[in-house]
Amino acid sequence: MEFSAFDIGDVSQRPARANDAPIVAGWFAGHGDATRWGGPDIPNPLTAAWLESEIADGTYFVCVDSKDEVVAIYSLKRIDEEAIHLRRFAVAPILRGRGAGRAMITDIAGLARSKGAGWLSLWVYGSNKAAVRLYENAGFREIGTRVAAEDSSGFCLRMRLDL
Ligand SMILES: CC(C)(COP(=O)(O)OP(=O)(O)OC[C@H]1O[C@@H](n2cnc3c(N)ncnc32)[C@H](O)[C@@H]1OP(=O)(O)O)[C@@H](O)C(=O)NCCC(=O)NCCS
Repeated sequence: MEFSAFDIGDVSQRPARANDAPIVAGWFAGHGDATRWGGPDIPNPLTAAWLESEIADGTYFVCVDSKDEVVAIYSLKRIDEEAIHLRRFAVAPILRGRGAGRAMITDIAGLARSKGAGWLSLWVYGSNKAAVRLYENAGFREIGTRVAAEDSSGFCLRMRLDL
């Protein structure tokens, strides 16, 4: 599936590979950043070896530019017939704030729709203003919260996008 083009040229997606792990592991400045992306189970420190073992579960995809440079990562897990869960979405730091996230969410939603899902779900920490804004603008709505002592906001939002 081709992703929408934005200002770094053509972007496509492919299943993540073991050798993508060191690149993505380098995107997070510390444990706080890594946790905001990956949730409370992220090891401290986040290592390429851990991410490689995660990628081996087959649910991770990367977005790559025309030179096969990794520009984003995410994981999709089917919950049931109706729902697909989006996890661990991140854009490469150098590209943030330029519309890449917005374009990719639109295309991930299209991918989930093409797999027959009726809705897409995700969790996002209350402190993650950029991500909450991104998801709200893409049409996600809040459907629940959980207490999250690991985040400065103290909570995590569950959001849903009807496809
Ligand atoms: C969250 C993330 C994926 C957004 O990707 P991005 O490419 O920077 O997002 P975009 O440039 O497409 O911007 C999307 C929206 O977020 C807003 N935004 C971007 N950076 C922001 C910031 N630092 N603070 C507030 N809003 C911000 C933009 O204004 C835009 O909203 P708009 O449509 O109203 O203009 C990216 O910041 C990221 O990878 N963060 C680290 C990992 C992470 O937290 N993932 C989310 C896990 S749930």
